[in-house]
Amino acid sequence: MDLCIIGSGYVGLVSGACFAEVGHHVVCVDNDQRKVEMLQAGKIPIYEPGLEDLVHRNVASKRLRFTNSIEDGVDNSEVIFIAVPTPPQTDGSVDLTYIEKVAREIAGVLKPGAYRVIVDKSTVPVKTGERVEATIKRYNKDAEFAVVSNPEFLREGCAVPDLMNPDRVVIGSSSNRATDLMKRVYEPFKAPILVTDVNSAELIKHAANSFLSLKISYINAVAAICEASGADVEMVADGIGMDKRIGRNFLNAGIGYGGSCFPKDVKAFIAIARQLGTPFALLEEVEEINAMQLTRFIDKIRESLWVLKDKKLAVWGMTFKPDTDDVRNSVAIELINRLAAEGAHVTAYDPKGAEKAVEWKLIDPTKVTLAATPLEAVAGAEALIIATEWHEFANQDFAAVNASMHTPLVFDGRNLFDPSTMREFGFTYHAVGRPAPAR
Ligand code: UGA
Repeated sequence: MDLCIIGSGYVGLVSGACFAEVGHHVVCVDNDQRKVEMLQAGKIPIYEPGLEDLVHRNVASKRLRFTNSIEDGVDNSEVIFIAVPTPPQTDGSVDLTYIEKVAREIAGVLKPGAYRVIVDKSTVPVKTGERVEATIKRYNKDAEFAVVSNPEFLREGCAVPDLMNPDRVVIGSSSNRATDLMKRVYEPFKAPILVTDVNSAELIKHAANSFLSLKISYINAVAAICEASGADVEMVADGIGMDKRIGRNFLNAGIGYGGSCFPKDVKAFIAIARQLGTPFALLEEVEEINAMQLTRFIDKIRESLWVLKDKKLAVWGMTFKPDTDDVRNSVAIELINRLAAEGAHVTAYDPKGAEKAVEWKLIDPTKVTLAATPLEAVAGAEALIIATEWHEFANQDFAAVNASMHTPLVFDGRNLFDPSTMREFGFTYHAVGRPAPAR
């Protein structure tokens, strides 16, 4: 099929590449000319495992191309996906400016007699589809189209496998013709398809992300009880996770969730519920617990080191999760900045995220030193802090790490290490929700 994706960010670019990979002809539209030129030159603006190969292969086979012209995309495609940003506003509600602008632009180029399915893939509040439909009708009364909601559930860091093998595909549609076309788009993926009305599909996305955030905050609250009682949250999570109704996924305690989705989507869902007159106080507690996690973790570091000012601290990890270079809303970055604000001399290392953290001015390189290797970061450090659970951190030469540190203190904010192994290496090892080392 001929498909158009408007917006070449995480969702748009990975979706476009995966649709091309299964045989569709895809044109990706972006209004950022620099990004379009980069993509046309084969350069991928984000780090996502497997994406570069996928883009190169499908560009070479002429199933994937990039343009800045919406008209080109809309003219040449029967299904048009909108995958533009939906950032938060200061009150937590969703800024739909980009969606509204794209709806107007699509309306401006829709030709009479050419039926099109307009699919919203961005995360949007319930009832946005109705707005998009009304907007297109207002600006083009002859257009023949249907608006569909098709939320995306991919995770950064494993976006390509998530898209190629989705748990489910949700199609929110009130038109049989549009639903049939959408089923054809997804037919090659062999995934379970759930067809709903548009409003329900939109709500599924916010409800799913909020539920996953709730799961994380739940285990983090349990971790606090474990710390107070001497229990081990990893064993507790295993024990409750073995119940198939609960499941072990997303029960990893740590310094809290971050990234460009969970914090924003929980806030948005709270705002949506409030606007609809059905307040969702449970989610406010989810946010509260998440914010407390980092504060409690820093308190723990302070409890051991007493004063943080002028202490040399090593932090491993800057991205909001492993296998990505994304540092937006990263709890690791917030941790680094809070330690630096207390006067600690922080040396940070991240396999992929350091460059963007500086480029986007999320850390101040005059206040935070960046190391080229994990070992370089710990030289002379009074404590090592794990902020992101990159796999490579687990495979370090810990005898060398210990020998290089001033004092062998480890604060593991992601429960990455086995406590007894770390203690065998001579570290005083603190984790989240796990028994504290003997004083
Ligand atoms: C999340 C959802 O998992 C995707 O399904 C969704 O499509 C995406 O948001 C989106 O809305 O676009 P993502 O933000 O890429 O994906 O990353 P996750 O793997 O969900 O992790 C989010 C945060 O939760 C990370 O900071 C991670 O460290 C934290 N987390 C995750 C925990 O603290 N504990 C866990 O057990 C799991």
